[in-house]
Amino acid sequence: MREVRNIVILTGAGASAESGIDTFRAAGGLWEQHRVEDVATPEAFARDPELVLRFYDMRRAAIQEKQPNAAHFALARLDREWDGELLIVTQNVDDLHERAGARRVLHMHGEHLNAWCTYCDVRSRWRGPLIERPACPECGARALRPDVVWFGEMPYRMNEIYAALRQADLFVSIGTSGAVYPAAGFVRDARELGARTLELNLERSQGSAWFDESRIGPAGELVPAWVEEVLGG
Ligand code: APR
Repeated sequence: MREVRNIVILTGAGASAESGIDTFRAAGGLWEQHRVEDVATPEAFARDPELVLRFYDMRRAAIQEKQPNAAHFALARLDREWDGELLIVTQNVDDLHERAGARRVLHMHGEHLNAWCTYCDVRSRWRGPLIERPACPECGARALRPDVVWFGEMPYRMNEIYAALRQADLFVSIGTSGAVYPAAGFVRDARELGARTLELNLERSQGSAWFDESRIGPAGELVPAWVEEVLGG
């Protein structure tokens, strides 16, 4: 087995579940009787912007009340202590990896704490609501939207992600259902490119068959144990 120097980690909603942030596909993926997929699309925003802004205002307010959990802290420790290449690619739009202290984090689905001006294309740090259509701090246009990648939109920084996957010796997926592409395909890409693949998830995911190893359990227990193994071994 080749020596592990370069690690790519993919995290999903399950990594933040023990912080009290609902996963997408829990509770049937419904929000106030709307399918999440019906709120998280450009079409939904065009059709009913109030509904979409209200949904994201609620999620943005909620994450600011939450705290990182043992999985976030363990990954932050790995980031500090691992002297090989490391990239934590997260599908999560919360800032819990960063608040735990991780630095090498890439938000492929955007961030709740950013607002994106569709007029001047600038992203601004944003903690408050967007429902009242506040002015963009850069250009003054009332054209801010959540800086979150919706279904049908291209995830961010894919070139950087694939460059990291090409170099990876180990790919680890944490708390993601494997239902949403392109992230769900990273395990196959990593495997074809020669990396070992490991999954840490509460249950078998849709992509489980692609992993060399699947460990089943809560991220708050599995991730610290795995990090200890990697740093201690
Ligand atoms: N520890 C580990 N895994 C967990 C935990 C936990 N405590 N709790 C839940 N899980 C697992 C679930 O079993 C599930 O497999 O995390 C996974 C969460 O899956 P989803 O809710 O589908 O979230 P995710 O995979 O991140 O969704 C991907 O879909 O809605 C879009 O853009 C959104 O980024 C999101 C993407």
